[in-house]
Amino acid sequence: MSRNTADRLTVFSDREEPRSPPREQTVSVVGLGYIGLPTAAILADRGYRVHGVDVRPDVVATINGGGIHIHEPHLDALVAKVVRSGRLTASTRPGEADVHFLCVPTPINADTSADLSYVEAAARSIRPHVRRGNLIILESTSPPGTTERIVAPHAVPPEFEVGRDVFVSHCPERVLPGRILIEAVENDRIVGGMTTRCAEKTRRFYEMFVTGGIFTTSATAAETAKLVENSFRDVNIAFANELSMMCDQLGIDVHEIIELANRHPRVNILSPGPGVGGHCISVDPWFLVHACPEQTPLIRQARGVNNHKPHVVLRRIVDAARARGARTIGCLGLAYKADVDDLRESPSLEIVRELRAMDEFELLVCEPYVVANRFTEFPLTDLDDVLRRSDVLALLTDHAPFRNLPFETLQGKSVVDPRGTWRRTLREGGAAKSLPRAA
Ligand SMILES: NC(=O)c1ccc[n+]([C@@H]2O[C@H](COP(=O)([O-])OP(=O)(O)OC[C@H]3O[C@@H](n4cnc5c(N)ncnc54)[C@H](O)[C@@H]3O)[C@@H](O)[C@H]2O)c1
Repeated sequence: MSRNTADRLTVFSDREEPRSPPREQTVSVVGLGYIGLPTAAILADRGYRVHGVDVRPDVVATINGGGIHIHEPHLDALVAKVVRSGRLTASTRPGEADVHFLCVPTPINADTSADLSYVEAAARSIRPHVRRGNLIILESTSPPGTTERIVAPHAVPPEFEVGRDVFVSHCPERVLPGRILIEAVENDRIVGGMTTRCAEKTRRFYEMFVTGGIFTTSATAAETAKLVENSFRDVNIAFANELSMMCDQLGIDVHEIIELANRHPRVNILSPGPGVGGHCISVDPWFLVHACPEQTPLIRQARGVNNHKPHVVLRRIVDAARARGARTIGCLGLAYKADVDDLRESPSLEIVRELRAMDEFELLVCEPYVVANRFTEFPLTDLDDVLRRSDVLALLTDHAPFRNLPFETLQGKSVVDPRGTWRRTLREGGAAKSLPRAA
């Protein structure tokens, strides 16, 4: 197997318009979640015949009915359109295609090591359908070496040589939930090929639907670059979270300190929050830590700081409730970040779970982005009810419906606001001094 890695970065172009795809080229997208479904829909809209694959029959049925099972702006209309046109079909079984995308989960195990079983299963599942000339692209965020050590050995039939008969690459996704349809097309992309030819073929494919710059490198460099991006975010958020705990100890307002420090022309501190969640930033740094345990003490420590933060916020809520002898706590938001329905690794959900386990307070929880019958762990309450009945209000996820609540709805309550979202409302309402400081 040729391993002539294309490890030098090349900027190819900043095109305004993607090219048109060769007629009737087929694409298979394995894994139809937050990444796979938008990718499948965009490619179908560009004119490819797309065969979407998911192990969940309910997901397949929903998509074939022209619907979607996740919340992402404008995705419903796009999926309805491409399903109606016959360009996107879904199935629980993989099939033949010119290009095979793997967009399956890459979670961590209980010991924080990478769980690559989904990638391995997806790679195995396409192997009977891989033909000479096919392109296989891993989009899942993966530890360094996954494309070479897991995808190629399991997906490529033994009679084929990578770089000559079939082409295998990694192209990490950098989309922001809520803007996936825009960013999947407009963001710059890193294309890491197992060989130079793999990278080149993959670059040409992405040029068909991506308008951002496309940068080619080796598969391992592409895997590592994506993990470095998310580790950078995690370390910087950990710094802000550490400052919030330090300022609590000093009895000063962390948000004011950060605003003041950021007046320095070369300082740009992020905002603290209740912790770090989601499937990416709270997970991906571990892939680097496990790859190079001796060389990554800072990245590991940042994970520790961010994982500790929900406990600090929990303590603040409990202290605020006990201080006023409150019975009812209102928790606003369960998702890991604003205006998404994604609960994976969410610190907000972790805080609510721990509060419930204490069994000391009546908890009213509002999560407007989660469809109530899809969430069965505990009952959800509508916003008006939470605001009317709670003595203590914790803003755990700063969803749009919560951000601009009028001062009157907060007045007289103890407020825990880890991101400082309501600071201005409280200040302008003249109540800031009488309320507990945010954690
Ligand atoms: N969600 C994001 O914002 C985001 C951003 C950048 C990168 N990523 C990365 O993209 C990858 C996918 O993430 P996601 O958020 O789309 O996950 P997801 O859980 O939303 O979707 C994955 C889908 O794959 C399906 N699946 C699992 N195993 C399968 C198999 N063997 N065959 C077919 N289908 C299978 C699941 O049923 C699920 O529907 C992960 O590596 C993630 O880290 C995600």
